[in-house]
Amino acid sequence: MSVYVEPLKLGRRADYTFKMNTVTGRHGWLRLTPAYSLKIVEEIISAHPRAKRVLDPFCGTGTTALTAVYHGRDAVTVDINPFLVWLADVKTRCFSPSDVVRTAEACREVTSIVTRKSVDPWTSPPIHNIQRWWDADTLEYLRLLRAGIDAVAGSDTPVHALLLVAFCRTMIKLSNAAFNHQSMSFKEQQQLRIDLGVDYNSVFTEDVHFVLEGASENPRGSASVLLGDARYVDRYVHVPVDLVVTSPPYANRISYIRELRPYMYWLGFLASGREAGELDWQAIGGTWGIATSRLANWKRPDNRFVSEHLESVIDEIRRAGNPSGAILANYLVKYFDDMWEHFCNLTSVLSPGAEVHYIIGNSKFYNTVVATEHLYAEMLERLGFEQVRCVPVRKRNSKKELIEFDVTGKWRG
Ligand SMILES: C[S@@+](CC[C@H](N)C(=O)[O-])C[C@H]1O[C@@H](n2cnc3c(N)ncnc32)[C@H](O)[C@@H]1O
Repeated sequence: MSVYVEPLKLGRRADYTFKMNTVTGRHGWLRLTPAYSLKIVEEIISAHPRAKRVLDPFCGTGTTALTAVYHGRDAVTVDINPFLVWLADVKTRCFSPSDVVRTAEACREVTSIVTRKSVDPWTSPPIHNIQRWWDADTLEYLRLLRAGIDAVAGSDTPVHALLLVAFCRTMIKLSNAAFNHQSMSFKEQQQLRIDLGVDYNSVFTEDVHFVLEGASENPRGSASVLLGDARYVDRYVHVPVDLVVTSPPYANRISYIRELRPYMYWLGFLASGREAGELDWQAIGGTWGIATSRLANWKRPDNRFVSEHLESVIDEIRRAGNPSGAILANYLVKYFDDMWEHFCNLTSVLSPGAEVHYIIGNSKFYNTVVATEHLYAEMLERLGFEQVRCVPVRKRNSKKELIEFDVTGKWRG
């Protein structure tokens, strides 16, 4: 049986969330809510000095991979979202001193081009209700800036990649998006930036310098960042791994794509709302746009996760009398079937004695708590993992029953 280890006082630890990532070098390049804390990753990786190869099958912004390579380990990481794969790849690369100098020079050239308007502006990205994101002047500036970066740095060069990271920072800073909550919303008023007379080029230049500070600190290990589906992780990872540290999607109906849309459109990873919906449907726990209607007709696969706890949770949700209860039940069953497929295929990429750490929160729908950590532990035990435990990490918000856990186990091999 899996064991719950209860710490005496479990608080809402800001140092165990993405907030801590925003101030530290490359980890702080972009503030994206799917990130988890590098503190917990640091702790786990440091505790396993002999783990040479570290896997994160749900890469996100690359927190695990970057931490691993800074610790001199090799990292392998997979994500289904091409923008996140691009970002994690740039974050874990080695940059030469001349890459850094050339990027600073390119930044000066780009800002001069933008000031002179001597480039055709980029086409406006097809973001729905774009005027909610940026007013007309700001949008024009961003279109010139984006075109200027392509004109000066070509494509697929280290300089181009670093300038694009800085562009993402500037683009989101100049937007009306507010990240006060776990998910994004819009500020009620236009920002004060125009009244304050802030010069947009200096915002971008500052962002380039912030990015270059991180780029100057090269990791010792190397990372392999792969676009793929973690359900079939064995198709992408062909070398045995010694340690898995990851935070998979939560079963809470939050769409990662929704938050990442502006970055994805501006960098050319998305061209339409339909594409965004399709990608969300491919993602585990995806629930946005087309994904919701597909759930209604979704049929369980042959390799399904059968569990008494899951059955009783689903039963309660179906009987709660809510009109969306049936879709929600399908959502949860699909989520756990997908994770079961992932765990089944994971075992073939683990070296004997490999430890896994899944940082995951439970969820609550209507009045039913879904003990995701318990279900993960059940899956690990069924597959033959040993020493399976659910260690509480932090409270997720003011609801006292919502907790984040580290679900861990050792692969017997
Ligand atoms: C909670 S986030 C990971 C956050 C990451 N630990 C970080 O610090 O940024 C979960 C990630 O799983 C990815 N994901 C969802 N379904 C996937 C799948 N089938 N295969 C691979 N990645 C997937 C999402 O794109 C998202 O980036």
